[in-house]
Amino acid sequence: MDFSLSEEHIMIRDAARDFAQTELLLGVIERDEKQHFPAELVKKMGDLGFLGIMVDPKYGGSGMDTISYVLIMEELSKIDASASVIVSVNNSLVCYGLEAFGTEAQKEKYLTKLATGEFVGAFCLSEPEAGSDATSQKTSAIDKGDYYLLNGTKNWITNGGRADVYIVIAQTDKHKGSHGINAFIVEKGMEGFHVGPKENKLGIRGSDTHTLQFNDVKVPKENRIGDDGAGFRFAMKTLSGGRIGIAAQALGIAAGAYELALKYSKERKAFGTEICNHQAIAFKLADMYTDIEAARHLVMKAAWDKDQGNNYDVSSAMAKLYASKVAMEHTVEAVQIHGGNGFVKDYHVERLMRDAKITQIYEGTSEIQKIVISRNIIKE
Ligand code: CAA
Repeated sequence: MDFSLSEEHIMIRDAARDFAQTELLLGVIERDEKQHFPAELVKKMGDLGFLGIMVDPKYGGSGMDTISYVLIMEELSKIDASASVIVSVNNSLVCYGLEAFGTEAQKEKYLTKLATGEFVGAFCLSEPEAGSDATSQKTSAIDKGDYYLLNGTKNWITNGGRADVYIVIAQTDKHKGSHGINAFIVEKGMEGFHVGPKENKLGIRGSDTHTLQFNDVKVPKENRIGDDGAGFRFAMKTLSGGRIGIAAQALGIAAGAYELALKYSKERKAFGTEICNHQAIAFKLADMYTDIEAARHLVMKAAWDKDQGNNYDVSSAMAKLYASKVAMEHTVEAVQIHGGNGFVKDYHVERLMRDAKITQIYEGTSEIQKIVISRNIIKE
């Protein structure tokens, strides 16, 4: 067993760290306040190869492994989780899905642009009445011969107003349950496709979240991904990889808050000494460091499982469940260590605390991760 990173992995991590600390940090507080989507930075991340990290270079991707992906996600998320969720959705939910299950024509037409950042992608599964209960899709796609007629509403869609390509999950035969669901590629601007108002969110406020409406959208037959009825399994498999990305995001948020808290505790003085010398603070730092390292091991193990071709449904669920819990708990502690300064925006930790919450909700709530884990261990 070897826990060390390769030289290539260290270079990739350092490049992401450098980009985050120089480019993402600039204006991050303002983007959060104004809910400003970082369009220019997305372009730069595309140029750096961060939007198609694991995609085969023949489709314009960087051809890296999942370990590289989580290293990049951690570094970006330490500074700006709004930027990192754009990276995660584009890589895990859109590029991966197309590369693993799409036709050659779909890859040529869409993946090549998504992997380079020329296009941004969105993944549309959640509905007003189908969030955790993803099989209960109400959005319907009726087979009309050479096209499907798509009708319905999708909620809380990341990149909702900014994407060029949307992967939309819809029911094609309600009598077949999860086997009557398909995934479709919908393009921005298709007739009958409307983007609703932007959500005003607690955290990741720089990311672009919308409700989407599909009214009689004609989706060409060739835009269905995979075999007829394979859409639910497509969504589940895709989300298993997405959960590795969100786990790495949660890890980055926690690690970012810890690094700020450690630095602050070495500078701030109270009762005649730096506050890190008080056991009340030192023990908090010890707990943070330990839990973050444990989360990092789970995230790396899930990424390694994916790279090895092992099943990663459970390891990704465990990584997301644990890393998001650590992110939530320790960003609160980072605010506490900062005292009054933690409560004002300039010190960043209050934003990280708000950003942490979503990691326990999207791409499967913590309760859903426990369903995935428990079902698998019980059936073994
Ligand atoms: N891989 C392949 N197939 C899978 C699978 C997986 N990981 N998980 C389930 N399946 C298959 C099952 O084997 C089953 O197939 P058979 O009928 O052939 O046996 C079929 O799918 C149905 O599975 P279940 O009976 O387990 O389905 P369920 O209704 O009990 O739901 C669930 C399972 C795990 C709760 C699932 O609904 C789920 O993951 N819900 C959460 C959805 C979610 O994560 N939403 C996030 C929205 S996306 C988002 O947040 C993106 C963003 O913008 C950031």
